[in-house]
Amino acid sequence: MSLMRRAAEPAVRDVLPYRKPKLGRDYWIKDNALPNALEVYERNLAREDWTQGAPWRNEIWPGIRAPEALLPPELAQVEAWVCQQTGARGLTQKTPVSGALSHNHVQVVGERESVAKPHVDSLALCDYAAVIYLHPKPPTKSAGTSFYRLRLPGGGLGGNLCPAGCKNLTEAFGVTRLPADAWQQDVEVENVFNRLIVYRADFVHSATRYFGQGERHNKRATALFFWKAVT
Ligand SMILES: [Fe+2]
Repeated sequence: MSLMRRAAEPAVRDVLPYRKPKLGRDYWIKDNALPNALEVYERNLAREDWTQGAPWRNEIWPGIRAPEALLPPELAQVEAWVCQQTGARGLTQKTPVSGALSHNHVQVVGERESVAKPHVDSLALCDYAAVIYLHPKPPTKSAGTSFYRLRLPGGGLGGNLCPAGCKNLTEAFGVTRLPADAWQQDVEVENVFNRLIVYRADFVHSATRYFGQGERHNKRATALFFWKAVT
């Protein structure tokens, strides 16, 4: 069977281990994360140095984004908390061979620009990922971050962890696409202004949904982080 044929007929194989995501072990939440979150939000939304992603350009990431969302002292506060919670001795970034890791980027995505797309982050590049929700009054709390588990063809539920030795789900499944209904929401973390969620990058996750149309202030705004842990 050719690779193209396999990609056109995505198969779901039960290849992922399952572990229920547990607060304090697999993900961590800090409310009121930034002392100046409104200032950070307004400062970032006033920027004009945005790069466009999907649907305007052929990118895997949606909406618009810009680098250096947090200033160094703001980022240092976040990283100190992440180290304290996860036990990492330090946090660093790996430079990707191709593409870009949108560490410390602000991202703004409207409801027409994307939907939930469960995935794991590149395990070659990060151990932990994090999001700070920056919209001061999200129209729905069901627009945070969710963890998912695989739906099996027979109706049962499968796993949610990228297997050891695989860098991503494409490697794990051997196909680049899965059916749209391949995933079931397992644990949902709500979108609350100035909430920081940190999670292990090998758990299948996604933005739960996006919201807003028109100007940037209407849309889901987040700051994104990706770290390799120094152990
Ligand atoms: Fe991700």
